[in-house]
Amino acid sequence: MTPADPVFDTALSRAFGLRLPVVAGGLMWLADAEYVAACARAGILGFITAASFPDPKDLKAEIARCRDLAEGRPFGVNVSMLPKLVPGERTEEIFALIAEAGVSVVETSGRNPEPWLPMLKEAGITVLHKVPSVRYAVKAQAVGVDMVSIVGAECGGHPGMDLVGTFVNMALAEQRLSIPFLIGGGVGTGGQIVAALANGAAGVVIGTRLLVADEIPAHEGYKQALVAANERDTVLTMASVRNTIRTLRNETTEVVARLEREDPEIGIEALMPHVAGRIGRRAYETGDVSHGMLSAGQALGLTRARAPLAGIVAQLEREACAALARLRPTPCPSDRTYEVDA
Ligand SMILES: Cc1cc2nc3c(=O)[nH]c(=O)nc-3n(C[C@H](O)[C@H](O)[C@H](O)COP(=O)(O)O)c2cc1C
Repeated sequence: MTPADPVFDTALSRAFGLRLPVVAGGLMWLADAEYVAACARAGILGFITAASFPDPKDLKAEIARCRDLAEGRPFGVNVSMLPKLVPGERTEEIFALIAEAGVSVVETSGRNPEPWLPMLKEAGITVLHKVPSVRYAVKAQAVGVDMVSIVGAECGGHPGMDLVGTFVNMALAEQRLSIPFLIGGGVGTGGQIVAALANGAAGVVIGTRLLVADEIPAHEGYKQALVAANERDTVLTMASVRNTIRTLRNETTEVVARLEREDPEIGIEALMPHVAGRIGRRAYETGDVSHGMLSAGQALGLTRARAPLAGIVAQLEREACAALARLRPTPCPSDRTYEVDA
């Protein structure tokens, strides 16, 4: 697809005709048709989160609604394959539904997508697999995904167990990958987008910075809490069950952190009454953020005001152009031949 007005020419913007090489990653309970279509219209690539629609009929209807709202621009579906979110048998059914609905790209996460790659390729669907660390990206490349997103320790949601930072991921990805890769985790300014592109990325994946968009289907109180929060207001918990998650600090995270401290072998059953998804969902509906595991990353320090999604994207674009202008390219000296890496 030819980009209407691309600001940067990358493998991502070329593949989907994007104005900015930005993916708005799946957001449980929040990435619905309105939000994802707003992303499409703003010239970035959004993903409806399949796990938010337990009944496949509802997911099908949401895809149709998004198509109506997206003004012919591409969008995708996020399929988080964590067993507790989408049991194995349902993953297959969901991919079949997505193929039938004519969706051309999926963002997969949570598990190796290898078993489903033949059916997705057969359907002509681009697979953008999201991983929390470069070593998994290398593996995803080996099994044949089309693109990978690597999200660092700063990210909202699941940063994995390695907790490598985004800046290091950026450099390692450039050295170790040959397929197009996206960088995420803490990205919230256009300058960071330029930094990722300068390190060889085809784009970035963003979650947290976009949570204060008007089109995010959540209560005003929730968005105001995010605006008021800063980069120090998130915590990592759930490492004891090997499912580390970065969320907004609140009463629930205090309790969960204490329980894990007191009994490192506590197990998911004992934590479930606190971390169940329905509690977080209630916070989105009521605006009371004191309870629930509310995924959010360190980019909370960059969410200064709520705004229409198109306004946030325009700001990212302005910042990216300003960052480029700051670089004022000068020829690099050619006489520095000292080699440290054989
Ligand atoms: C509220 C929230 C919900 C999320 N839900 C999902 C999800 O259901 N599936 C998924 O693959 N990633 C999910 N993520 C991760 C994002 O798609 C994205 O990878 C991440 O937010 C990028 O890091 P950032 O938050 O620092 O921008 C979620 C993130 C947030 C903040």
